[in-house]
Amino acid sequence: MSGAQPFRIKVLISGSGTNLQAIIDAVAQGAIAGQITEVISNRPGVRGLERAQAAGIRTTVLDHRRAPSREEYDRELAGHIEATGADLIVLAGFMRILSDGFVEQFMGRLINIHPSLLPAYRGLHTHARAIAAGESEAGCSVHYVIPELDAGPVIAQAAVSIEAEETEASLQAKVQAMEHQLYPQVVGWIAEGRVEMREGMVWMDDSPLSAPPCLRAEDNA
Ligand code: GAR
Repeated sequence: MSGAQPFRIKVLISGSGTNLQAIIDAVAQGAIAGQITEVISNRPGVRGLERAQAAGIRTTVLDHRRAPSREEYDRELAGHIEATGADLIVLAGFMRILSDGFVEQFMGRLINIHPSLLPAYRGLHTHARAIAAGESEAGCSVHYVIPELDAGPVIAQAAVSIEAEETEASLQAKVQAMEHQLYPQVVGWIAEGRVEMREGMVWMDDSPLSAPPCLRAEDNA
């Protein structure tokens, strides 16, 4: 596709950026047909910014503590994204609730990874809550973002089993290992045009998705 614009991905982070790293690696290996054109963090000095810099990716810090309100911050963030251009905005541990105006502006180009098997366990402390409830499985979901928190249509999931001696930390480590497989795969599908959101639903290979595909930890064994 000589002369065609590369598919432009912006990754938004707040912290360690291990999912960002997985996406950086997948782009470097040619598994994602696109370019990470920028990494934006709402927190200065985080490890994810170092990962981006080490990969030669432009970084921007938009510190939320300097904004007078959530709406003001989101307007600044949206203005920056529109001015610099993005085909896909990937939330990778971006720990902020986005205002409805922001989400509506980018809906269909905005995805998130959430550490639960949605629609179960929206919000925070998902792993501790799953263990406390006696669940036998936990996991993560990649979904399109809509104004309602963690409620957008799910593109794909990955599941792990919860063992008898499971702790929040051990479960988080297992789920994160799956996140690092799942997120680059979904970004790759979107970059290839295989997945999109139409009328509030996920379409894959030109058919509406009736149930999201689910990767299982045992599949790797
Ligand atoms: C990930 O585990 C992701 O699922 C979670 O934050 C972590 C970021 O890790 N996201 C949420 O909880 C969103 N509600 P990372 O910075 O190492 O990629």
